[in-house]
Amino acid sequence: MTGVTLIGAIKRYGQTQVIHGIDLQIEDGEFCVFVGPSGCGKSTLLRMIAGLEETSDGEIHIGAREVTHVDPAKRGVAMVFQTYALYPHMTVAENMGFGLRMNGVAKAEIEQKVQEASNILKLDPYLKRKPKALSGGQRQRVAIGRAIVRGPEVFLFDEPLSNLDAELRVEMRVEIARLHQEIGATMIYVTHDQVEAMTMADKIVVLRDGRIEQVGAPMDLYRNPDNKFVAGFIGSPAMNFLDCEVVDGVVRHPALVDSIPVTESVPTGATKVTLGIRPEHIHVDRNGDTCTVDLTEALGGVSYSYLLTPNGDKLIVEERDDQRSTTGDRIGLSVRAERAMLFDSETGQRLR
Ligand SMILES: Nc1ncnc2c1ncn2[C@@H]1O[C@H](COP(=O)(O)OP(=O)(O)OP(=O)(O)O)[C@@H](O)[C@H]1O
Ligand SMILES: [Mg+2]
Repeated sequence: MTGVTLIGAIKRYGQTQVIHGIDLQIEDGEFCVFVGPSGCGKSTLLRMIAGLEETSDGEIHIGAREVTHVDPAKRGVAMVFQTYALYPHMTVAENMGFGLRMNGVAKAEIEQKVQEASNILKLDPYLKRKPKALSGGQRQRVAIGRAIVRGPEVFLFDEPLSNLDAELRVEMRVEIARLHQEIGATMIYVTHDQVEAMTMADKIVVLRDGRIEQVGAPMDLYRNPDNKFVAGFIGSPAMNFLDCEVVDGVVRHPALVDSIPVTESVPTGATKVTLGIRPEHIHVDRNGDTCTVDLTEALGGVSYSYLLTPNGDKLIVEERDDQRSTTGDRIGLSVRAERAMLFDSETGQRLR
């Protein structure tokens, strides 16, 4: 049993509070991703779990143990950082075994653990090489190997792929997911990349300004965001938001042929509401002419068209197959009511 539990976890630097009372349960064996914009507190929270940052208030539990003020080395966690910081004068095998050697582990046992990690990470051909003779992805695999040999109950990753180029990032993303399947340990992974969060996580924790905005499985957050922030953060390209009038119990926007019925939680008498629609959920009507296509981006399988609506709002739609717009086209739009989401224009809270 090695889940991780945070109870009212707070971090202050002097007078400044940066983590504001986080309550979170990460299950045993779960792959949990902390995601959010730069400065929202992802690394701080991860380092508090690792014990690299002192927790100012609240509690941290790993498995059945409270570890809030326990030494990092005694928490049963291993951390992988963005910069792999390998020792340049040591071979791959020596780099991986170094921590164990420092702890006085016997040579035969170190060799066995390094071999096991090497099998998992497919590093056998490189064990005798020095880091400078490795690619970025191979170096990051060695850094992960260094964590594996320690046999931690919980793996902590802080943006481990952000130094790699796009193609390698995709490859390593798959490898880390496979590693998780293979060893089944609890993993907490920090990223600001929502695609990494969506593809890797069992559970995503969306953070903003040191607070949790929402916790849930990737598709739950995509389908059912609690607020405008989560709706806009999860999904790529981001959800479109349009300020709309509420008239006679329906929501209207000049760009849309349809009117969207108000949901139960739209307060009676409300005159304004924010309509959220994802680019992939808008239907383009080629016979309509409410919007102008300002720009198109063809990515191959899909194209994105950037539109200008009659009242000057901007909107992105996804198009596929042969039905694609070109710059200057005039088109109409429609949206199925069940695909539209309504948000309070002031607070950004979802109106379900
Ligand atoms: N030593 C410190 N003293 C004061 N404030 C700090 C200190 N370290 C971090 N902070 C602040 O804490 C907040 C959270 O920082 P943190 O590094 O956790 O963000 P992050 O979500 O990991 O961002 P990024 O995506 O850029 O890595 C930031 O506003 C940062 O300025
Ligand atoms: Mg960070």
